[in-house]
Amino acid sequence: MNRLEQAITTISDYPSPGVQFRDITSLVENPQAFAEACEQLAAPFADAGIQKVLAIEARGFIFGGAVAVALGAGMVMARKPGKLPRKVIAQTYELEYGKDMLCLHVDAIKPGERVLLLDDLIATGGTAMAATDLAQKLGAEVVAASFVVALPELGGLGRLQARNIQTHALLEYE
Ligand code: PRP
Ligand code: ADE
Repeated sequence: MNRLEQAITTISDYPSPGVQFRDITSLVENPQAFAEACEQLAAPFADAGIQKVLAIEARGFIFGGAVAVALGAGMVMARKPGKLPRKVIAQTYELEYGKDMLCLHVDAIKPGERVLLLDDLIATGGTAMAATDLAQKLGAEVVAASFVVALPELGGLGRLQARNIQTHALLEYE
């Protein structure tokens, strides 16, 4: 097991029966593991000309800011409803254990900007696809997506790849 894998905690049947919850709070509480995760999330995209990192509330924000600084990019927040003060576009999506909505400020990304999507975890990909759809509606080129954890059996990585978006995950769990 590497340092990152050791730093993730798994909780069975949270938040509902049958879910193996991969908890990144223990990773970000560990300074070496947190720094290593941020470096590894950004490294493959150092020369990709990324102009905006699009991070997803809430856990994506923890990593998104550090990755944006590392890449010399701006940081865009995809937020849950009622949190962004200016004009937004919004999209609903299905989760592994529920339903939710994401919003973006309409002027957060300019047409043609190269975007790296960033989140702590991808499961079904509902969240990542909703954020991608919003960014593409604003004219973004969503170049790639980077995650601390991926659960490939739930199909999210494949959904992004089918849209021609390069994917990168530090850890994969079956
Ligand atoms: C979690 C996680 C991802 C999403 C992944 O967020 O941080 O954003 O679920 O699931 P999916 O690939 O099936 O869409 P959650 O909605 O629980 O919100 P949080 O970050 O605010 O805890
Ligand atoms: N978000 C969606 N599925 C998850 C899981 N299994 N663990 C942690 N966060 C999640």
